[in-house]
Amino acid sequence: MNNVADRAATAEPAPAVSPDFGAQLEAWRLRMEDALDARLPSASTVPARLHEAMRYSVLGGGKRIRPALLFATAKTLGLSEDQVEGAACAIELIHVYSLVHDDLPAMDDDDLRRGRPTCHKAFDEATAVLVGDALQPLAFQLLARDPALPASPAIRLRLVDLLSEASGTFGMAGGQAIDLGVQGQVLDIAQVEDMHARKTGAIIRASVLMAAECAPGLDPKAYEALNEYATAIGLAFQIQDDLLDVLGDVTTLGKATGADRERDKPTHPSIIGIEASQERVHLLHGQALTALESFGERAAPLRSLADWLLSRHY
Ligand code: IPE
Ligand code: IPE
Ligand code: MG
Ligand code: MG
Ligand code: MG
Repeated sequence: MNNVADRAATAEPAPAVSPDFGAQLEAWRLRMEDALDARLPSASTVPARLHEAMRYSVLGGGKRIRPALLFATAKTLGLSEDQVEGAACAIELIHVYSLVHDDLPAMDDDDLRRGRPTCHKAFDEATAVLVGDALQPLAFQLLARDPALPASPAIRLRLVDLLSEASGTFGMAGGQAIDLGVQGQVLDIAQVEDMHARKTGAIIRASVLMAAECAPGLDPKAYEALNEYATAIGLAFQIQDDLLDVLGDVTTLGKATGADRERDKPTHPSIIGIEASQERVHLLHGQALTALESFGERAAPLRSLADWLLSRHY
């Protein structure tokens, strides 16, 4: 049974995402397309092939979930979208770099990403390595330069610190190393969740906390509540990704399905099965919502994002 609709009958009922929030997500996605376009080097600038590959990888696809988390957190805290747009671009650039490298033959060896050939297929492996090499410093340069981010050097330094920790050896890169090292091994759920928290959770958590860092004088309790929300969402997001690898369909997802099983990756579905994995996502969703209680109505965008995360099929 490969069809999501068939499986949906056995899943926890997913909360509906309102048309208004769907329109908000789309508006943020479009905003990011322009924001990223403006910050990438033009395809005619030397070295043109590298710049073309950077633009190919970053533009024209992706759900832009991490930027949406920054914008939703900004809204919750009374900040404007302009104030966090540079940080949203920085996070997305790091994310895209992680995808380009994740798809390389030396890693997951995938041919399809965001409905198109992966970067190394459309260009070549050396170019794909360099795309990652170039997107990463561009992300940090944006944090140093973006005029709309808080001008305080201390806050900018904190943003650099958060993003470097989340993408480095104790975050995404370390998580990816664990992911590659444990293929074919039997792990328990705690070990899988530790890997997920690093490879995916860390960048998602940083998306929320970087926006929080831009809010002047934020109460430490509010910061901690956002941290709890983001930690739960980050883990749920990778479990959902692993569920979609089993249940999703390639056209909707824009990437191959069945890839985790093919590479013998330890995942929630492979260890505890589909239904228990869905229940885990549901539980984490509940934890994320509970963490937001003290914000009241102001946290509606973050709640809607969590709802969307639970119900997404793409
Ligand atoms: C895919 O992330 C990689 C994971 C961390 C699971 P997304 O599902 O956010 O991918 P895009 O950005 O929408 O393509
Ligand atoms: C990737 O996890 C996490 C990253 C840090 C890129 P996956 O390998 O499961 O992501 P997909 O399924 O290829 O998008
Ligand atoms: Mg991978
Ligand atoms: Mg992969
Ligand atoms: Mg996956």
